[in-house]
Amino acid sequence: MSTIYTLNWGIMSTGGIAETFTRDILTNPESRSVHDICHQLVAVSASSSLKKAEDFIAKVNAPGKVNAYGSYADLVADSSVQVVYVATPHSHHFQNAMLALEAGKHVLCEKALTVTAIQAKKLVATARVKNLFLMEAVWTRFFPSSIRIRDLCNSGVIGDIYRVMSDISYANGQSGRSGRLDFPDSHRMVNLNLAGGALLDLGIYSLTWIFQILYHLQPEDEKESPIVTSALNKYKATGADDNTTILMHFPTHGTIGVASTGFWTTTGVNEKNEGMPSAIIQGSEGEIHVIGPAFKPQKYLIITKGGVEAISCEYPADLERKWGHGMYWEADECARCVRDGRTESRTLPWGESIAIMETVDKVLRDGGIIYSEGITSDIFDDKSPLNTGGSW
Ligand SMILES: NC(=O)c1ccc[n+]([C@@H]2O[C@H](COP(=O)([O-])OP(=O)(O)OC[C@H]3O[C@@H](n4cnc5c(N)ncnc54)[C@H](OP(=O)(O)O)[C@@H]3O)[C@@H](O)[C@H]2O)c1
Repeated sequence: MSTIYTLNWGIMSTGGIAETFTRDILTNPESRSVHDICHQLVAVSASSSLKKAEDFIAKVNAPGKVNAYGSYADLVADSSVQVVYVATPHSHHFQNAMLALEAGKHVLCEKALTVTAIQAKKLVATARVKNLFLMEAVWTRFFPSSIRIRDLCNSGVIGDIYRVMSDISYANGQSGRSGRLDFPDSHRMVNLNLAGGALLDLGIYSLTWIFQILYHLQPEDEKESPIVTSALNKYKATGADDNTTILMHFPTHGTIGVASTGFWTTTGVNEKNEGMPSAIIQGSEGEIHVIGPAFKPQKYLIITKGGVEAISCEYPADLERKWGHGMYWEADECARCVRDGRTESRTLPWGESIAIMETVDKVLRDGGIIYSEGITSDIFDDKSPLNTGGSW
């Protein structure tokens, strides 16, 4: 009988997505028919308060002994932690992920991986030198539905693929043309000091659909980054991008991607997702429509001359914990990579995260979005306020 490999997690931050992810890794892997690996929560850290970490551990009802810390430095010094899940605002990712890598920990870092492509390259270079696993936490890539859609595209079911369009937008505006979003200006979605803006927060998902089809499926020896043009609108109150569209041309392959994101319209419009699909993959013999949020589709349609096949996307819940959000599959990927001594995921390789960040860099630069030196610096500083509970 083969043994089950256990990966020991340390969670960096006690915010919204940290809780969702932690609840997912605490579910029984068998509930999603995974029998070769499992996850253990061994430590949690808030940036400035031990009590926050203790409350978090109680709230997620974690079994066994879990160490609580009031500083990120203490978390990465914990010898029981193998991998750190970085779940801070993206302004903090470079410094926080580097803190963990420098301490010899593997890292799963929330999207967007960094604020700039140079920061992403530096994280990758550090992981490479230290022989540590590093992955951007784009959970969508690891869904069985995403794997199936990539396989369908490869198998030629919709012929040769020429175009992918994807949108992720959530109307967050107050009524009419007030010009105000519902977020307070200090909120990380629109606050430039926290790398706010639609592109880095939501747009990563529409880019995910373009890249996981038009870039990821390119043969290894024919990898081609896109030529990027774009348009973005700046939110008057803070200057963050609030309505952004990107055109990506892969000339050697003859393919084009269109990714959009914003805070003034909603993809799929209502709860039944009646409206624009979140992704449309167009081939010479048909289309695949992805329905439901780009980060967590609810179903997809395979549309060919022969008709329409609709397939639901399942996110199995653990019957005991009554929980299952879908982030566990990316965690399973981390466990298998660490178990097998792989530093890089084949499903989301380093080069692809960098190519996406280079695309983002160009769009932000062309649109005149300038983040501060404090959050774009690629010089690691363990005493940076971003590592000690502050911001710029
Ligand atoms: N994969 C997904 O589906 C998904 C969904 C939402 C967000 N995200 C990503 O996850 C990251 C966190 O998002 P979130 O929604 O969890 O944010 P959040 O609820 O605001 O939590 C962020 C946490 O970061 C820590 N932090 C440290 N310094 C901070 C500072 N100066 N300002 C604010 N927070 C600070 C805080 O925790 P402590 O005080 O405990 O340190 C805070 O609770 C972002 O990069 C976002 O893009 C991913």
